[in-house]
Amino acid sequence: MLRFRPFFRPAAAAACALAALSVLPTQAQDMPEGSSELARRAVHVCAACHGEAGRSPSSDYPSLAGQPAQYTARQLLDFRAQQRAESDSKAYMWGVSALLDDATIQSLAAYYAAQTPAPGRTKAPAALLRTGQRLFEQGLPERGVRACASCHGERAEGAAGFPRLAGQHAAYLERQMQLFGTRLRPHGVLMKAEVAGLNRAQTRAVAAYLQSL
Ligand code: HEC
Ligand code: HEC
Repeated sequence: MLRFRPFFRPAAAAACALAALSVLPTQAQDMPEGSSELARRAVHVCAACHGEAGRSPSSDYPSLAGQPAQYTARQLLDFRAQQRAESDSKAYMWGVSALLDDATIQSLAAYYAAQTPAPGRTKAPAALLRTGQRLFEQGLPERGVRACASCHGERAEGAAGFPRLAGQHAAYLERQMQLFGTRLRPHGVLMKAEVAGLNRAQTRAVAAYLQSL
């Protein structure tokens, strides 16, 4: 991803922040009942990149708000097991996920699932959005691409292991579609045909549409 590279190593910085959590003043009010102290405090570290309540204002970081808990937990486990291994995953998520135990992962996942997502926004041209909508709702049967809606939900709201895509940053979505075609993100096997069947322009169109939802 092309982005401003901080002069510090982000994973190291996140690890330091988590180690120094006792100095953080407040606790998240709406963490699920029974959440550990670690989970209550870790959420502040996550917010530094993923935004308040997981509503990321920056396309550098995916939003987490409204994401089904099962999906979020799976990703944190994949980062921790170093299976989701793209350079941004490594730089940003390997260090922080290594500090999370299973119970904390479940609490954080439940917390983000309960947060209200930010409304979709777009500056994309209407024609691009229409193309994206068609791909999302109908797929591209002649290329073996199924409708994204059939797995991700009619409004891309996600469920269980299927991620919410609505309102997610388009640049992030596009990048992930490319990664699913590689070994750097191995758990996209269900979408193999969709990833292989869309060209760059089509992927861009569907990502632009999804950000607008
Ligand atoms: C230093 C910045 C930073 C911090 C701190 C951080 N993240 Fe991330 N996170 C990222 C980046 C960048 C990505 C995208 C990685 C990629 O493109 O592979 C990401 C990806 C994720 C994803 C995958 C999202 C998806 O849609 O698949 C989850 C889940 C996640 N982070 C959860 C967390 C949690 C929970 C915390 C706190 C314990 C946290 N992150 C802390 C930068 C950060
Ligand atoms: C057969 C079911 C299925 C279909 C059809 C499908 N997906 Fe997915 N998709 C998944 C699953 C399951 C995952 C989660 C993979 C993982 O855990 O890493 C996923 C993940 C994603 C992600 C990563 C999201 C994130 O937050 O990192 C994107 C982007 C995505 N899908 C886009 C699409 C698009 C666009 C289409 C339509 C062209 C589509 N998917 C069709 C099942 C499907």
